[in-house]
Amino acid sequence: MKHLLSIEQLSREEIEAILDRAESFAEVGRRDIKKVPTLRGRTVVSLFYESSTRTSSSFDLAAKRLSADLVSVKAAGSSVDKGESLKDTIATLSAYDPAAIVIRHPYAGAAQMVAGWTAAAVVNAGDGKHEHPSQALLDVYTLRRRLGSLEGVRIWIVGDVLHSRVARSNLIAFNRMGAEVTVCGPPTLIPRGIEELGCEVSYSLNGVEEAEVVYALRMQKERMSESFVPSLREYAANFQIDTRRLNPRQLLMHPGPVNRGVELSGEAIDSPQSLITEQVAAGLVVRMAILYELLAGSEGQTPAGEGEGSKPTPIGTPA
Ligand code: CP
Repeated sequence: MKHLLSIEQLSREEIEAILDRAESFAEVGRRDIKKVPTLRGRTVVSLFYESSTRTSSSFDLAAKRLSADLVSVKAAGSSVDKGESLKDTIATLSAYDPAAIVIRHPYAGAAQMVAGWTAAAVVNAGDGKHEHPSQALLDVYTLRRRLGSLEGVRIWIVGDVLHSRVARSNLIAFNRMGAEVTVCGPPTLIPRGIEELGCEVSYSLNGVEEAEVVYALRMQKERMSESFVPSLREYAANFQIDTRRLNPRQLLMHPGPVNRGVELSGEAIDSPQSLITEQVAAGLVVRMAILYELLAGSEGQTPAGEGEGSKPTPIGTPA
């Protein structure tokens, strides 16, 4: 695997290999010294053109836990503000000879374009409404830890599916792992033809009680140029997941950040069924596994001219 641009590119076996690797990093994370020397001497660039708390912090910490040198750039406050193009920004940061560039950008296909402009491995940390593959991997990891397997598990993805790269990546990943997926929301927020990706569609929460997992999505107001629902109050009345709608044997997930009181009630967020904090914790070990697979895995790219000292170090060895 040279890049991670989409979940579409990964087979079930490749997903499972990344999750197994993440399990071994979770074991490292339980030690006093949580750092391994695997990427010592290699550089990871983290480049975010959109806001992020979870993805940016966990990729940054993942790179540090693997002992990489990290260059973290937020577009706001950088030379992007002075009009520097994406291509020139990538050329500039590629001059440091990074092993990987992790990029989030508002345009679908941006990560794919970047992969054509740099020798580094590129990780798509979210490109517009297209894909968010590392989110899908951490969500599958979280469910696999809870349920053992996703085979036959009924998952409802509820909310603003139209604007959600998470919905798209997760639908593909959940299907690939054998789950049965239903997407649910008002007709204005469900993309036409989404059934072709292999899911049922529901325009109401009737039937959600059959699901083992309810995956709520954020209302992405920043991507809405028009009014898709009459009001957030009306949306919440029909689609908010609260403890009345959630039964005690169901698991609740959300990629974050949550609009408290819109797609989820405060009580549901804080309920024992909520896996939201587990998802965040999973983000760290899964993103360590992604960087490992790209840069030090069996098919990892070893830049020409590197000597013996740059060979991957086994995970178990402390830094
Ligand atoms: N889930 C997710 O991508 O969160 P951030 O926007 O905080 O990275």
